[in-house]
Amino acid sequence: MNNSKQTALITGASSGIGRVTAMKLAEKGFHIIAVARRKKQLNELANQFQNITPKQVDLSNDGETKDICRYLSELQNPVSVLVNNAGYSIRGVLEDVLIEAARRLFEVNLFALMRVTQACLPGMRKLRTGTIINLSSIVGKFTFPGGGVYAASKYAVEGITDALRLELAPFGIRVVAMRPGPVTTEFNDVSNELSGDPMIRTDKDYKPIYQAAGAAAGKIFNGLSIPEPDLIAGLIVEAILSDAPNPVYSIGPLCDEFLGKRECLDDKNFHNFMLEKFDLMNLQV
Ligand SMILES: NC(=O)c1ccc[n+]([C@@H]2O[C@H](COP(=O)([O-])OP(=O)(O)OC[C@H]3O[C@@H](n4cnc5c(N)ncnc54)[C@H](OP(=O)(O)O)[C@@H]3O)[C@@H](O)[C@H]2O)c1
Repeated sequence: MNNSKQTALITGASSGIGRVTAMKLAEKGFHIIAVARRKKQLNELANQFQNITPKQVDLSNDGETKDICRYLSELQNPVSVLVNNAGYSIRGVLEDVLIEAARRLFEVNLFALMRVTQACLPGMRKLRTGTIINLSSIVGKFTFPGGGVYAASKYAVEGITDALRLELAPFGIRVVAMRPGPVTTEFNDVSNELSGDPMIRTDKDYKPIYQAAGAAAGKIFNGLSIPEPDLIAGLIVEAILSDAPNPVYSIGPLCDEFLGKRECLDDKNFHNFMLEKFDLMNLQV
């Protein structure tokens, strides 16, 4: 299908990976529906590209998500490219996590992804073609200490993505998991702001654990060259335009080391590798 006849929906298009992907696909002639909460950022995009339609939606809000799904299912020119990108992280050991905050995160990272995909699929089935790109993460396959809630949402995205890829292959609809390592976007600032300083509110028992894991994470990240969102957006566009995209793209720093070890070690040895890596092996509290 000609790009100019294709509609691409990108969630989380107001910043980071989603924003650059929207710009790159708009340059290729796709009609873009750009979804996020921040109207100003969406309007700035739409002012730059006349083929970008901004849609202000809070994907943690049930009514707003249902409204955008209704709009999508009624489109004359159905979505043939879907980039499920909206997402964020909160940090903290499980005892420090507020269940309401975890529920909201799952609403955005997982349930909105499922609902938007459900709204787009009848159109894609009718076309007998389409591409779905789901933003997972390296932590879709393992977790850092204090990262369980976010990682759990990405493990779930991986599961949904793997099932969809099988279910939709007979329709010619391609399903891709994008598994980036760290990327320079607003992601960390958002996570820091939502999580606050865990040392202030955690039980004193956990303080040495936060301290050890935090210092170890500092060492892991120190000197890493963190890519710009352009790298991931470029790969997303490459997958969309490819005749045969890979099922999964792992990209960026830490992928080789952590995903590599996750693949080649058994569960027990991977656990020990992570204990060592985060200086928790000999810590007794
Ligand atoms: N950056 C990384 O290190 C990294 C690594 C691996 C995977 N990822 C994944 O990549 C994806 C994009 O993240 P990014 O790095 O580009 O971060 P980002 O710059 O913070 O972008 C996140 C996007 O999600 C949108 N979003 C968040 N909550 C939303 C809500 N309730 N309703 C609608 N939209 C919402 C944000 O828009 P509004 O705030 O305007 O709503 C924003 O456009 C995420 O799924 C993330 O998990 C990121």
